Amino acid sequence: MTTLDISRPETESPRPAMAKPATGAGPHASAALDVLLSRQSQWPLTEPGPADAELDLIFDAALRAPDHGNLRPWRFVTIRGDARGSLGDVLVDLASARSPDEPRSAHAHRRQKAFAAPLVIALGAAISAHPKVPEIEQLLAAGAAAMNMLNAIHALGYGGFWSTGPDSYEARLHDALGFAANERLLGFLFVGTPKTLGQAPARAARSAHVREWQPTQPAQS
Ligand SMILES: Cc1cc2nc3c(=O)[nH]c(=O)nc-3n(C[C@H](O)[C@H](O)[C@H](O)COP(=O)(O)O)c2cc1C
Repeated sequence: MTTLDISRPETESPRPAMAKPATGAGPHASAALDVLLSRQSQWPLTEPGPADAELDLIFDAALRAPDHGNLRPWRFVTIRGDARGSLGDVLVDLASARSPDEPRSAHAHRRQKAFAAPLVIALGAAISAHPKVPEIEQLLAAGAAAMNMLNAIHALGYGGFWSTGPDSYEARLHDALGFAANERLLGFLFVGTPKTLGQAPARAARSAHVREWQPTQPAQS
């Protein structure tokens, strides 16, 4: 899992010419599937977080998500170091405003949440008016990017956790993080090194989620 080249430059470039289309199949397919099938959300997280070059790879993975209309709705805000304290203060402010009868100290755990990982990434989606790409598709593209990030985080040997909670839908948090009016805050990815490696969670049974369509009418030829 450490054979990735993490020294690649940023690419906003045409894809390199290839002898044949890259399908993903081949000698690395099994390793890639191992990564996908072994990922699990991790909490709590500690130092170290990803190095800058690794973080670049995580964002590059995000920017490979499918995206109808090439709208590139992905927006990410990294929150590290002392900035996490400021995020925590906003979270406490929001909780205090929601429950004005409670002392501010009752919400101290929210400030601690901001320090629950060395790196917090606010996930955003910039929504554009488009005749063929409704908002839901732009949100799905942002969600696909987040999933790619969780997989990349795992592939690099770190742990991640996607969290929303009521705060993510508060205008004040949205504004504090600098998101524009047309941008939606979709939660936070907490990223770091798992403190403990918990047991693999039980996974859903495939049969409960997959079915073959049985047309009621014979297909017309
Ligand atoms: C959009 C989104 C928001 C989430 N928000 C929370 C949250 O606020 N709190 C929480 O405990 N889990 C939340 N989860 C669930 C966890 O991120 C995680 O998926 C869940 O614990 C299952 O773990 P797994 O990824 O190993 O299957 C959220 C998941 C998604 C997709």
